[in-house]
Amino acid sequence: MTDILLVFGTDTGNTEEIAEKIQQQFSESGHIVELIDVTDCSADRISEAEACIFGIPTWDFGGIQEDWEDFKGELESAELEGKKIAMYGLGDQFGYGDFFIDAVGWLHEIIEPKKADIKGYWPITGYDFTDSRALSPCKTYFYGLAIDEDQQFEQSDARINAWVQQVLAEFKLEEAA
Ligand SMILES: Cc1cc2nc3c(=O)[nH]c(=O)nc-3n(C[C@H](O)[C@H](O)[C@H](O)COP(=O)(O)O)c2cc1C
Repeated sequence: MTDILLVFGTDTGNTEEIAEKIQQQFSESGHIVELIDVTDCSADRISEAEACIFGIPTWDFGGIQEDWEDFKGELESAELEGKKIAMYGLGDQFGYGDFFIDAVGWLHEIIEPKKADIKGYWPITGYDFTDSRALSPCKTYFYGLAIDEDQQFEQSDARINAWVQQVLAEFKLEEAA
């Protein structure tokens, strides 16, 4: 059984709710995902996990959720080379369209130089925003799943389901019986 760790930070609970839905989807494919609030996490726990999912909301015009910001040093000291990591971000594309899920870009800027094996890139199709720090160089993908509970909550379940199937394949996790 692969040790998959989902680390989330949240101010008002949305990112934790999405974490539970992601956990449920993995569970339906026979995979156990351990959820942990970033305030309870450590560099060692991340280093020992076989695969990680990071969940982060963006606050205050491109700001980083503060528990994640406090965790930056731990993340930088974790052993990430070759580790499978996928990310998802919570944001509001109409209210903060110049900064949509920026915090995912911040995470990417930390983990990419550490040679993490980053999976779960997600197409920008279906979103309406102006700019994001979380965009790939070709600007057609986010560095992780974008979830907008403020403006497109009705699309979240379908997005989560599709993304989990994508991540299962990209993590090369076989369907467990
Ligand atoms: C004051 C305020 C500032 C926000 N700033 C941003 C932002 O810069 N970019 C963005 O994409 N979303 C922004 N949001 C939307 C939040 O990221 C969104 O509501 C998210 O679901 C919150 O997640 P949480 O409940 O896990 O903290 C902001 C929301 C508020 C109320």
